[in-house]
Amino acid sequence: MPSAEKSDVLIFYVNGKKVMEKNADPETILLTYLRNNLQLTGSKLGCGEGGCGACTVMISKWEKSLEKARHFAVNACLAPLVSVHGCAVTTVEGIGSTKTKLHQIQERLAKFHGSQCGFCTPGIVMSMYALLRNNQIPSASDIDNCLQGNLCRCTGYRPIIAAFKTFTCPMGEKCCKFQKDAHNSQENEIENKQNGWLPYDPSQEPIFPPELMISNKTNNVARSLTFVGEGVTWHQPINLDEMLSLKQRFPDARIVVGNTEVGIEMNIKGHCYPHIICPINVQELNEMNVDDEGISIGASCRLSDVAEFLESLHKDKTEEETQIFYSILEMLKLFAGLQTRNVACIGGNIMTASPISDLNPILLAVGAKLTFASSSSGLREIQMDETFFIGYRKTKTRKDEILVSIKIPFLTENDVMKAYKQSKRKEDDIAIVNSAMHVSFEPGTKTIKKLSIAFGGMAAITKVPTQTMSKTIGRTWDGILLNDVSSWLSEEMKLSVDAPGGMVQYRRTLVTSFFFKFYHHTMTILVERGISKKNNIAISREIISDLSVEEESFTSTQTWQEVPEDQKPIDTIGRPIPHLSGFKHTTGEAIYIDDIPPYRDELQMVLVCSTRAHAKIIDVDTTVALECPGVVSYVDKNDVIGENDLGMYGEVFADGKVTCVGHVIGAIVADTQAHAIKASRLVKITYEDILPRVITIEDAIKHDKLSIVKKMKRGNAEEVFQNCDFVIEDEARVGGQEHFYMETQCCIAIPKNEDGEMEVFSSCQYPNGLQTMAATCLGLKRNKVIVRTKRLGGGFGGKETRFCVISNPAVIAARKLGKPIRCVLTRQQDMQITGGRHPFLGRYKIGFNKDGQIKALQIKLYSNGGNSDDLSFGVMDRAIVHADNSYNVPHMEVTGSVCQTNVASNTAFRGFGSPQAMIISEAWITKVAETLNMDSEKVRELNMYKDGDRILHGTLLQNFQAKRCWDECLEKSNFHVVRKEIRDFNKSSRWKKRGIACIPSTYAVGFGPKHLNQGCALVLIYTDGTVLLSHGGTEMGQGLDTKMVQVASRALGVSVDMIHISECSTSSVPNASATAASSSSDLHGMAVKEACEKIMKRMEPLRKSNPNIGWEELVEKAYLKRISLSATGFYKVPGLTNVWDCKTGDVKGDMFSYIAYGAAVSQVEIDVLTGHHAVLRTDLVVDVGNSLNPAIDIGQVEGSFAQGYGMMTLEEMLHSPSGHLWTIGPGAYKIPAFANTPKHFHVHLLRNCPNEKAIYCSKAVGEPPLFLAASVLFAIKNAIKSARSDAGITGPFRLDSPATAERIRIACEDDFASKAKPSESENGLQPWAVRA
Ligand SMILES: Cc1cc2nc3c(=O)[nH]c(=O)nc-3n(C[C@H](O)[C@H](O)[C@H](O)COP(=O)(O)OP(=O)(O)OC[C@H]3O[C@@H](n4cnc5c(N)ncnc54)[C@H](O)[C@@H]3O)c2cc1C
Ligand code: FES
Ligand code: FES
Repeated sequence: MPSAEKSDVLIFYVNGKKVMEKNADPETILLTYLRNNLQLTGSKLGCGEGGCGACTVMISKWEKSLEKARHFAVNACLAPLVSVHGCAVTTVEGIGSTKTKLHQIQERLAKFHGSQCGFCTPGIVMSMYALLRNNQIPSASDIDNCLQGNLCRCTGYRPIIAAFKTFTCPMGEKCCKFQKDAHNSQENEIENKQNGWLPYDPSQEPIFPPELMISNKTNNVARSLTFVGEGVTWHQPINLDEMLSLKQRFPDARIVVGNTEVGIEMNIKGHCYPHIICPINVQELNEMNVDDEGISIGASCRLSDVAEFLESLHKDKTEEETQIFYSILEMLKLFAGLQTRNVACIGGNIMTASPISDLNPILLAVGAKLTFASSSSGLREIQMDETFFIGYRKTKTRKDEILVSIKIPFLTENDVMKAYKQSKRKEDDIAIVNSAMHVSFEPGTKTIKKLSIAFGGMAAITKVPTQTMSKTIGRTWDGILLNDVSSWLSEEMKLSVDAPGGMVQYRRTLVTSFFFKFYHHTMTILVERGISKKNNIAISREIISDLSVEEESFTSTQTWQEVPEDQKPIDTIGRPIPHLSGFKHTTGEAIYIDDIPPYRDELQMVLVCSTRAHAKIIDVDTTVALECPGVVSYVDKNDVIGENDLGMYGEVFADGKVTCVGHVIGAIVADTQAHAIKASRLVKITYEDILPRVITIEDAIKHDKLSIVKKMKRGNAEEVFQNCDFVIEDEARVGGQEHFYMETQCCIAIPKNEDGEMEVFSSCQYPNGLQTMAATCLGLKRNKVIVRTKRLGGGFGGKETRFCVISNPAVIAARKLGKPIRCVLTRQQDMQITGGRHPFLGRYKIGFNKDGQIKALQIKLYSNGGNSDDLSFGVMDRAIVHADNSYNVPHMEVTGSVCQTNVASNTAFRGFGSPQAMIISEAWITKVAETLNMDSEKVRELNMYKDGDRILHGTLLQNFQAKRCWDECLEKSNFHVVRKEIRDFNKSSRWKKRGIACIPSTYAVGFGPKHLNQGCALVLIYTDGTVLLSHGGTEMGQGLDTKMVQVASRALGVSVDMIHISECSTSSVPNASATAASSSSDLHGMAVKEACEKIMKRMEPLRKSNPNIGWEELVEKAYLKRISLSATGFYKVPGLTNVWDCKTGDVKGDMFSYIAYGAAVSQVEIDVLTGHHAVLRTDLVVDVGNSLNPAIDIGQVEGSFAQGYGMMTLEEMLHSPSGHLWTIGPGAYKIPAFANTPKHFHVHLLRNCPNEKAIYCSKAVGEPPLFLAASVLFAIKNAIKSARSDAGITGPFRLDSPATAERIRIACEDDFASKAKPSESENGLQPWAVRA
């Protein structure tokens, strides 16, 4: 209900320009305003929930008390527009440009190859920029801190860290860190290959707008403000009285400071709060004070200010007194990213009353006092104790009360206090379980006066185990107490097997593990204070310490083969030239689909999707939705003119029945996306469930929902089993993976008035596929549909076919309404409906001899295909052909079936099924080693293929490089020495364990179906000598366009700056295969070369008769001589002779043109008590033939490894038993972040291995290295093995992928974990989550 009050004018600055907005709507988010109203599209929308940093901008505020402006990075996707009143906003466009001058951050990041798709890049630039504005020579840890809230899905982070390291020293490029011999004088470091960079000059930075400085000084800004919008009114009071009366008037009003809770509730969950009160100008809520008893923090103080304040206390107070503050500071380091901490306030964290709040356990454990105020009863003080939280997100305060401040006491030398947090990912993640523990002793003794403990993540509220606490009073701090408290806590902190959040055994285990840590922490302090004597204090220190690797500083090297000395400078093939869009990425000038300015009359479309996994649609009621403001239409199956059922790709719109949560039923079209979203929530759908609902692979096997079985075999495994020393059976499971491309799926469909033509701009990997589907559902011929793709903000297979969930409805809506339709999926809907990597189950029977030689193997592979076939059969084929990885099992039989389930259709994902099968192969080979008690590496070497062997899929192994990669990797990583050191380390370390593993990779390159192995290109040369190049591939960050330009440059003999690629369009290149299978450079590169050579051949006589002629002149002459200056190129991969009878399993001939190889060694350390792990070091040796561009190839290797690392350790897609995906958005689904980069990361491109079968002797690189992350998975397994052995458990054990903290902890199987196991009586309960 809009308020009758008058709205103020919003005044702020953007990039130095004043903005006055008379109609500022409190519901508008800053990012939307920057992008839509100011057309500043450099800041990107990656998630809309503060979890990715793509939208980072810098906000500057005049700080009256300091007489200077303060700058901080914020997430513009959560900042309400009206919250920037009186501030200066700086976006990536405001700091530098290719048209004027680049900022040093922009220049260095591009030159260090720190961007691939570039979608995350502006946000990363702005985080670094805000840091530099506050700190001109930051330390490495300042940089780590400032990047905690930024994600990149492409690069693997290493080059970004390297680029920003240049700012850590005033010497810049001349810093000793960048001198060649810093790590290895023989190595090529990519950054040293670049042109230098200019020094950073902070005096060049723009000044804070004087007008805002003056108005702040004179308090003009600090007056009451009101902003009235369509549904929400924003009140900004000037003092406490005014605030209290507002709260009395609007008791349901939300108090908003950072908007990091309320913003999620409104934007993502669809809650509506008609009144918002913003207290940023109320003094009592914004001050921090210290007195003799402790400190007082205003409720609206922001977390980064709180951290700064607490840091300052260390100077004047003793370590004992400030223990709480140290705990808070430690916790704040793990609390969200810096952008969130820069805006979120402490009061917001308390009053949200989240059961996983990180601060509430600490405040409860120390009995913080909260001062509340209300108009009716003035001030009252409440002590935080077990009675404060009364239910899920509820406190015992009254509606009209506001929190004014928090008093936190100093502790004494008789106190010990510590807080703990365990999350899926260490940085920027919410807790699985957190805890704070505080013990007060009788002075000078070990006798407990009071023990206070609070746990988050163990109930619907922050939970206090009061019974345990009271039983400890008067007890002595010793081993008996440890045992007692552990069993009391297990009793009191019960968690039901069906508890929300799942991971029940793990969470129960963490309760006692945390106390175990606290016990030892306290013990070391008692020893330090001279109160206790303990002989084995070293063990206590080991238990309480962090992983040692986390203290180390980051190092990396990259090596590759130099080009021949006589290669002309103009010829860039083999040279590490930067991505051609690099500067446009770093300046925000690169245009993605949603950056295209709106077309006249353009409308926005939002999908209406099923909320049931398997059901009949009884009724769809759109009445209320259609009455909402801005709504134009609802489209569904009745509007489809052509075909609604697109076979393997599913339906355009559901027709009477839905088969997964997220099945598209219809779509709302409105004037704005916000209106369309609101209305889409009001479409009422009545369902009738259909049973069974098949969610998991195991469900599908049980209900026989399996596709036909495909088989590949050689020899006769069944017969040979009888002659083996050992025959064992087991299974391995590999989880799915969300693509998490940073740019969500989007498209704009533009209907043309003539001939029914349709033009579609799409962020897809397969324009030809989109054209085909659009034409089919529109009932048009394909020549009437043109699809254009300039670049993607990442694809990774997720945009190979699943773009169809939006492109088909968009063209239908565009045709129906005759207007351009834009559809940009929200991150949450994208994750819900577009599927991911197929989860796999592998059941195997393996026969081997006691020397480790594997003789026979049968594997049954099952994948979870989801609710449509999509590419599942192709994925399964590729899995089958990679089921042997690098191992020659003479009698082998692989079968594969796709499970038809009621989850969103799974699809292509980097590696296309092969990583899953190869992980399963490493599981069986490890099982052999474990059974025989042999080193896995020995078993791997023993069974490895050799040159001249035929691999399972029939391709002849020529120049088999896997062994070479393997040997070099062992040598470069010093494997044997390090393994011995690790064994020694493990002998003396019970609670921290290390592991190391070496893994080979043999990866067949190309599309499985023969006909897809074709490439095409079009080369146009204009009379000024410039070249416009088109090819059939899409640029999605992998550097394809850069490589194609390099190929054309060599073939034509012109410099790369004469060549331009505008886009990939079906109107320039027809029938192109999807940009997939790592083969686009191979296919289109050859086509580009052929097209160029055709033109060069035509001009050859001219060149011969004018030997000294320059390029421009040559072209001009050719034109005058009427020589055609355009040509198409075409290439088909020769020699694909394979015949596979997938019924009998017989296979003959070459299925693929060539194979790519690699090997990896990783070392890890795990914390046995929490399951947390870190990668100490990774060495990769990768065969990319003669690299076309080592910088791009190394970027692909590192990025691919990082994605594989995420797949195998962090990323987990969890569904509810009824088929809802729980892990939606970056808050719930964790991809690797900056801190997950191996501490020492070394990438070597194998030298002297030209590949005659691809363009300029190169090899594919996009997918093969992903699997090398299995070295981390199996290193973790080795570390766990040592922990189990210390717990007295030996022999083989199963560790499925991903090895999450939960899996690691449980697999360690010590007493803590065993006691937390659900009992038999609990087994009947349905768990909260299942693994599809
Ligand atoms: C990306 C992201 C990561 C996060 N990570 C973490 C994390 O690691 N750990 C963690 O604990 N939390 C985390 N959070 C949650 C959130 O950031 C915190 O709870 C934060 O402290 C909330 O502060 P805010 O100013 O943004 O709250 P707002 O959204 O502005 O307000 C939150 C709530 O508090 C109430 N409120 C605020 N001030 C008062 C007051 N003075 N009196 C009465 N009620 C008041 C409001 O009415 C509202 O209901 C994360 C959130 C995001 C978006
Ligand atoms: S878009 Fe703002 S943090 Fe992701
Ligand atoms: S370059 Fe970072 S997400 Fe693509």
